[in-house]
Amino acid sequence: MRPASSPLPPSSSLPPLRTLDSLTGDRIFDAIRNLSRIYCPLSFHLEEPHSKKPVDEPLVDSGYTSGSEDDKGDALTALRADGFERSFAERWLTGFLARAAELSCLTSDDARERAVEDASCVLESFYTNSAEDEQKQEELAHYVREFTFDVSIPGRGQGKEINFRVNDGLAGQNPEEPDDVGLQSWGASVVISNIMCAEPDRFGFSRGALGPSPRIIDLGAGTGLVSLVLAQLLPQLGISDSTVIATDYHPAVLENLRANVAANSCLSSPGRLEVAALDWSAPTHEAPLDKPADVLLATDVVYAAEHSVWLRDCATGLLAPEGIFWLIATVRDTGRFDGVSDTVVPAFAAEDRPVAGDGRRLTILNEERLEKRNGIGRGDESGYKLFRIGWA
Ligand SMILES: C[S@@+](CC[C@H](N)C(=O)[O-])C[C@H]1O[C@@H](n2cnc3c(N)ncnc32)[C@H](O)[C@@H]1O
Repeated sequence: MRPASSPLPPSSSLPPLRTLDSLTGDRIFDAIRNLSRIYCPLSFHLEEPHSKKPVDEPLVDSGYTSGSEDDKGDALTALRADGFERSFAERWLTGFLARAAELSCLTSDDARERAVEDASCVLESFYTNSAEDEQKQEELAHYVREFTFDVSIPGRGQGKEINFRVNDGLAGQNPEEPDDVGLQSWGASVVISNIMCAEPDRFGFSRGALGPSPRIIDLGAGTGLVSLVLAQLLPQLGISDSTVIATDYHPAVLENLRANVAANSCLSSPGRLEVAALDWSAPTHEAPLDKPADVLLATDVVYAAEHSVWLRDCATGLLAPEGIFWLIATVRDTGRFDGVSDTVVPAFAAEDRPVAGDGRRLTILNEERLEKRNGIGRGDESGYKLFRIGWA
């Protein structure tokens, strides 16, 4: 992941309206995206964050808040409040919408529709947000985290950068919700997203291996980071009709997950991305979880003794006959999570584990250690175990 650059002032970054047709469609989408970053922080349906952290939460360093992030938030707030910049942006958006139907640089109806929708989205926010909404957005903008990943496409080199924002860092703020850990993106999801984008072949993410319309389920998706990455990565790999389903069981986490997915559906060209409730301890197979998954993914989901067995049994009911389950367990060598990642191997080797109709059982096919990366993840994380699990 690269640090995200700060949004630029509209007056110095928007291309003149008269030059629009000489630009590329990407340049136009970048301009609208920049405006959205300034004026449309995510739509929040969460309660206000509580200021106190629970005392027994083993908070080491989250690795996510830094002085520079705070500075960025302040700069963004100032930019959003600048009346000159706002009316400049408003005039540009109005002019863009008036010309959009004739712009040949928007090469397909789909691209034109999306650009108009995205621009309208930002313009509408100028008229619909009350002063109270604005203030709330400013406060909560500090909980918006931006992610940027470089993509490398096998045989073709650099792909289109993946970029999105999520409501993040809200875990552990509400003493009444001790289990809301999924309101934060964890180190494992950032590390694995980096690798998936840099080396998609390593996960078999290619049209040849997965076909044009694979189903992928993210278990314990939290903020939805990995799902959001996949929804943007797979189309770049020629997998044009993918469905990614981000799941979780915790009501507040699901609500935030839905908000993150909705907020990012506007500004990219992602594959299909859905959200569904799924509890590993009592899985149901209602739509959209009624069809087998070609890929299951789960990052930092083993942090209690029973999790490995729940995940194994849940995955047994979800994974397609040729499917692969990528399980990333975070290794914590200190505190109350010490040794929990060691529960994965025995769970998937147990003689009494469930058997599929064809007699095969979920089995670890490969285990690899991933190093902790500087500045990513909490201080108690010492690395990650990447398990490749399939039927054997
Ligand atoms: C440490 S967080 C990791 C979140 C996300 N995968 C990431 O890496 O950022 C663990 C996630 O598992 C979810 N979870 C815990 N128990 C679960 C269960 N029984 N069923 C489904 N999800 C569960 C939590 O709500 C949380 O979102």
